[in-house]
Amino acid sequence: MEGAHARHMQLDTVTTAALDAATRADLLRLLDAAYDEPMAEYVGHIGEGLHLLGRVDGQLVSHLMVVPRTLGLDDRWLHTAYIELVATDPTWQGRGYASHLLQHCVPLLREFDIAALSPSDAAFYERRGWLRWIGPLGVRTSHGVQWIPGEEAMVLPLAGTPMPLDRTRPLTIDDRPGEVW
Ligand SMILES: CC(C)(COP(=O)(O)OP(=O)(O)OC[C@H]1O[C@@H](n2cnc3c(N)ncnc32)[C@H](O)[C@@H]1OP(=O)(O)O)[C@@H](O)C(=O)NCCC(=O)NCCS
Repeated sequence: MEGAHARHMQLDTVTTAALDAATRADLLRLLDAAYDEPMAEYVGHIGEGLHLLGRVDGQLVSHLMVVPRTLGLDDRWLHTAYIELVATDPTWQGRGYASHLLQHCVPLLREFDIAALSPSDAAFYERRGWLRWIGPLGVRTSHGVQWIPGEEAMVLPLAGTPMPLDRTRPLTIDDRPGEVW
């Protein structure tokens, strides 16, 4: 959703490797406040990607990041833009900032086959065009695929997404420490 507030937000993209120390600290403060828990360990597990930073008058107010991952769907490997750490500083929420970042990250995803994420509030993303995955979700480990009952994922089809997309099929993701989806 575009709002009057969001139009005043400056957007900046930066890779994890290129984040300077001050921005890293600002980002961790924002994440700790938004999720109301210490996020450093989770951030470490996610690995590197591309951050979309939203600032108002120089202050970091909203963030998301794109982590390259690989989804397995039937006999296809999908180069996936996995969206992580969608967060707005609590004092700046409800002004359209996260919606603005979600909308403005899409042109950054041209190299990917599909976008995906694991929602804590699926309805928020559904209202922004994301689709719930209906089929079983699994993780590809060195011991084979482990299915994760109760896991939730959503996808956003991109230009390169194989169509028709059957969301009732099993979907697997590459392994990582911590929360895999
Ligand atoms: C979820 C989260 C990222 C949303 O950030 P946000 O910047 O407040 O998001 P937005 O302002 O774009 O949208 C939030 C709501 O405010 C409403 N809103 C948007 N602009 C508004 C405005 N100018 N005035 C009032 N409300 C507005 C939107 O309609 C939206 O409601 P909807 O989903 O019913 O449509 C934020 O609440 C957060 O950081 N939560 C904790 C971290 C988290 O759980 N992240 C993962 C979410 S699955």
